[in-house]
Amino acid sequence: MSETNASDPASPEAYSFRQKLAHWGVVVLVAAQYLVFDSIGRDFGRGMKTGEWVYSPAATGHILFGFAILALMVWRLKLRRDEGVPALPAAEPGWAATLARLTHGAFYLMLLAMPLVGAAAWYLQSGSAAEMHEAAANLLMALIAVHVGAVAVHQFRWKSSILSRMM
Ligand code: HEM
Ligand code: HEM
Repeated sequence: MSETNASDPASPEAYSFRQKLAHWGVVVLVAAQYLVFDSIGRDFGRGMKTGEWVYSPAATGHILFGFAILALMVWRLKLRRDEGVPALPAAEPGWAATLARLTHGAFYLMLLAMPLVGAAAWYLQSGSAAEMHEAAANLLMALIAVHVGAVAVHQFRWKSSILSRMM
């Protein structure tokens, strides 16, 4: 997953339209998981307590959006392989490039794993999978904060305008 690889495939100037579509699509779906469909937790709690598994709109939305995120992340990996990604800005210090690679890699890992762990919680009625899923949700929130903070530093301090490559 090298982001500075300029040879194979060629390192483009910006993310492709499809990569942008997938990036912002995931942003919208992830936001909905936290802001709209997080009340699947109530249905899950009731299911575990009473054995009655209700597909409320929140639970249904959470499951559908969760699997849509998984599909978009698989698509993104394929696009990354086929189309490449822009090189990290040359002006960026080495530690920042490393942090970017780690953060991006962690996003891929987490957003591929979270739907599977969530599904294990819901379909196998596993309390420990639910705990892992919740811990992952907290970690993901922290990663998003680092990611958005990094975009702001690029934009306003280093003036490397990476945002335009994803817009
Ligand atoms: C990347 C995709 C997903 C994200 C970002 C995500 C995010 C979240 C968030 C933010 C919560 C609330 C955590 C809290 O209340 O502390 C949650 C809870 C939950 N999610 Fe997901 N979710 C995803 C996919 C899924 C999928 C596909 C399923 C099931 C098929 C699922 C099942 C659950 C369950 C059962 C809970 C309740 C856990 C509990 O209350 O202990 N999630 N998820
Ligand atoms: C759910 C929230 C988000 C997730 C999971 C996420 C995930 C990612 C990932 C995985 C990449 C690397 C893409 C690749 O090289 O394959 C990326 C790049 C990028 N993201 Fe996000 N992102 C999120 C929110 C945001 C937000 C809110 C912004 C804007 C403030 C943003 C701006 C960017 C930019 C500008 C890049 C390109 C970086 C570069 O050119 O090297 N992202 N994002």
